[in-house]
Amino acid sequence: MLSITDEIIEMSEVETWTLPDRETSMPYFMVHCLWSVVNHSGFFVFEKEEPMTTSVPQNTVREWTSDEYAPSKEDKFSFGLWTVGNRGRDPFGEYVRPLFAPVYIVKKLSELGAWGVNLHDNDLVPFDATPTQRDRLVREFKQALSDYGMVVPMATTNLFSHPVFKDGAFTSNDPAVRAFALQKTMRAIDLGAELGATIYVLWGGREGSETDAGKDPVTAVKRMREAIDFLCHYVKEQGYQMRFALEPKPNEPRSDLYLPTIGHMLGFIYTLDAPEMVGLNPEVAHELMVGLNFVHGVAQALEAGKLFHIDLNDQKAPRYDQDFRFGSENLKSMFFLVKLLEEKGYSGPRHFDAHAHRTEDEQGVWDFARGCMRTYNMFKQKVRRFHTDPEIQALLKEIHSGDQTYGGLLGGYTSERAGRLKEATIDIDTRAKRGLHYEKLDQLTIELLLGAR
Ligand code: NOJ
Ligand code: MG
Ligand code: MG
Repeated sequence: MLSITDEIIEMSEVETWTLPDRETSMPYFMVHCLWSVVNHSGFFVFEKEEPMTTSVPQNTVREWTSDEYAPSKEDKFSFGLWTVGNRGRDPFGEYVRPLFAPVYIVKKLSELGAWGVNLHDNDLVPFDATPTQRDRLVREFKQALSDYGMVVPMATTNLFSHPVFKDGAFTSNDPAVRAFALQKTMRAIDLGAELGATIYVLWGGREGSETDAGKDPVTAVKRMREAIDFLCHYVKEQGYQMRFALEPKPNEPRSDLYLPTIGHMLGFIYTLDAPEMVGLNPEVAHELMVGLNFVHGVAQALEAGKLFHIDLNDQKAPRYDQDFRFGSENLKSMFFLVKLLEEKGYSGPRHFDAHAHRTEDEQGVWDFARGCMRTYNMFKQKVRRFHTDPEIQALLKEIHSGDQTYGGLLGGYTSERAGRLKEATIDIDTRAKRGLHYEKLDQLTIELLLGAR
C-alpha cells in the first residue's frame, strides 16, 4: 500500500493548467501549501508544494440542448467537491483524472445549472494548512461562490482519511483520537458556518470494526452520543443556524459500521440531548448495499420530520458502494424516490453524492454531473404525468376506495370504538377475494417510464 509520501511524489506529476478567464487579470496560484483533496476511496491526495496555475481546460462543457430537463438553480441541485472532484482511484488502481481546484469546480457546476456545492473541511483546506493559508483559500472560495452564484448548503468533516482515524474518530478507543476528532469537527463546523452552511453532515466512515474483539459496540454507541451531544451544544453556544444530518452506512471502508441503516440512526437520534437539531442524510447506495428499500427508509425519515438532507446516487445491489450516477441503475425505484420527495414537499437540497465511472476523462465528469440532474428532472416530469394520467388515476381511486363500512371505527383508540370493533361482523371473504390491480398499475407505471404513455 502506498504511503502518504508516495502520494506526494506521484502527485508532483499532475498536469498544471491555466484558468482562461482569470489568468490575465489574476494569476491564480494554488499557493505554497500542500493542497489536499479527498478521493472517494478515502485517501489523502497531496499536490506538489510549489506555485502552479489552476487547472481549467477550455470549452469542456458539451452543448446539450436546453430542453425542459435542463437543470436550473430553482431545482436545488448540489454536488460535493469530492464527487465531481473524484479522480477515479480505487483499491486496485491509481488516479485516472487530474485534480480540479475547488474554484474551478464551483464555476463548472454553476455553468451546468447546479445550485450548491458541499465540502469536507479538507476538500478545501489541506489537513496541514496554516491559518494564513486557510484564510486565503476560504476567501478565494467565497469569491468564487459569489462570482458564480453558488451556495454551500452543507458541510462536513473528513474523519476517515488520515491514519489517526484508522480505528474510528468519535468511537476510537483512544481518548486522544476522540479529542482530536472533536477539535477537527468544531473547526470544520466553523468553516461550514463561515461559508453559510446550515446542514452539517456526520458520516462515520471509520466508526466501526473488523472484529468485535477489541471494541465494545455498546460503548461505541455511547461515544457517538457523547460526541454528537457535545457538537450540538457547541453549535448552540456559537449561535450557528445549523442542524446535523447523520449519514448511515452498513460497511465500507470498515468491515462493519455502527448505526448502519436509516432505522438504526432514527432510533439513536431520539436518545440525544437535542434530537430536534439532529436528522438524517440517507444515501441511496448505502441502503441498497444491504438490499433495503430506500424509498421506504426515506419515507420513514420524512414522516418523522428527519429528512434534513439526501445523498442521491445509484447502486447495483448488493456489493461495494458504487456511487453511480443518479438513476443509472434502478429506474423504477428512483422514480418512486423522486415521486416521494416531490409529493411530500421535501424542500432540502437534492444532493448528488456520486462520481463518474473510472473510465471517464474530464468531459465524462461533466456529462455525469449533467446526467444526474437531468435524470432527476425527467423523473419529476414523469411524476407529473403519473398525476395526470387518467387511467392511472382512475385505477388509484379504485384501489384506495375499499369498503368504508368500518372506517368510522378506525383513526385512534376510544373505548367505544374498541367495544364496537370487537362486536363487528366484518365480511372478510369478500375482502379476501378482491383483486387489488397492482399488477396493472405497476405495468402502467412501467409504460409511463418507458415512454409508451
Ligand atoms: C464520503 C462518503 O463516501 C459519502 O457517502 C459521504 O456522504 C461523504 N463522505 C460525507 O461525509
Ligand atoms: Mg454519502
Ligand atoms: Mg456512497
